[in-house]
Amino acid sequence: MNSTAINSTAKPQRTLHVALDERSYPIHIESGLIGRANALTPYLAGRQVMVVTNETIAPLYLEKLCASLPGHLEVRSVVLPDGEQYKTIEQVSRIWDALLEAGFNRRCTLIALGGGVIGDMVGYAAASYQRGVAFIQVPTTLLSQVDSSVGGKTGVNHPLGKNMIGAFWQPKAVLVDIESLKTLPRRELSAGLAEVIKYGLIRDDVFLAWLEANMTALLNVEPEVVAEAIARSCQIKADIVAEDETEQGVRALLNLGHTFGHAIEAHQGYGNWLHGEAVGAGMALAATLSKRLGWINEAALARSLAIIKSAELPLAAPANMTSDDFLARMRLDKKNIGTKLRLVLLNGLGDACISDTTPVDVLRKLLDEYPRC
Ligand code: NAD
Ligand code: GLY
Repeated sequence: MNSTAINSTAKPQRTLHVALDERSYPIHIESGLIGRANALTPYLAGRQVMVVTNETIAPLYLEKLCASLPGHLEVRSVVLPDGEQYKTIEQVSRIWDALLEAGFNRRCTLIALGGGVIGDMVGYAAASYQRGVAFIQVPTTLLSQVDSSVGGKTGVNHPLGKNMIGAFWQPKAVLVDIESLKTLPRRELSAGLAEVIKYGLIRDDVFLAWLEANMTALLNVEPEVVAEAIARSCQIKADIVAEDETEQGVRALLNLGHTFGHAIEAHQGYGNWLHGEAVGAGMALAATLSKRLGWINEAALARSLAIIKSAELPLAAPANMTSDDFLARMRLDKKNIGTKLRLVLLNGLGDACISDTTPVDVLRKLLDEYPRC
């Protein structure tokens, strides 16, 4: 377990690095980055820039971002519909269309201005356009600032499974403007906190205790506290990605709660449960299973459930999902090898592992008995 004490008087480190040899890149965390002149310039591959965002974010931040770019660049934009249900290959195709119509070449740069949905789609468009062009992440939700903008997982959903089509493609930089959280709806803030809590549960019990103490400040978006949580989360993710870029081993731990969560998202219809909400309930299920298997004690389970609840996330599973619904979706999970289900479970707080030994009858019993909302 990597636990480093958090000094509450220290300013969070504002620039982190994802160490991936020639594909290394910085994560800048600061207030006001979106409008800052030339903040993006060092990471552009050439003169052609395509900013991709959605209908909600465009009126808030598109003009500001474009105005921060030097005047000699050829800047275009694409505004996609908003929502997880639009994280599809059809919308990625709209980005490819715009690039081709503008005559953009291999030295163009795509900028993802938005949450995880935009970031994942723009990353995939960049990975595949002319066999790969540069892209920059400008994440505007808490979830995308602590998780999806870092690490190079890109792609779209398929009706049969979440994130089933995609590629690993690293950005040239991640620019986190904390100020953008001022316009984020509270429900989306809670969804982002699910991924923040995840880092504490899987890797860092000191961070988990800090989150317990600072949850009210986080929900109130107090800038210093939020910046600390983002920096701490990104550091844990950057360390894991540097160790295992393409998820051959330790990176799978970042999927705590996601096997259950992806099943919920797909079954409910993309966009009905937010990704972070599904991960919240999924982590509660994973912690409950870990307790049933005797891997964590009652106190650890109680703390896991309490912190998820304190972030205003659901603990219960959807009322309309049977055990069979769960199991059918979970069998499609990308982590599975052969016919065995692989689950991320807890050995303790701040200590997760990946296991393929859970007997199906134990899992089924848990799903049968687990509370529904
Ligand atoms: P999202 O992108 O749908 O954004 C949530 C909502 O907030 C949207 O309606 C969006 O328009 C709005 N929004 C965004 N920024 C805003 C702002 N500053 N002010 C006001 N509204 C704003 O959802 P998300 O939670 O950011 O991302 C979820 C997606 O990320 C899922 O598709 C999930 O699979 C993916 N994800 C990917 C990774 C990865 O490693 N690539 C990791 C975690 C999650
Ligand atoms: N969000 C899981 C990962 O990036 O690996």
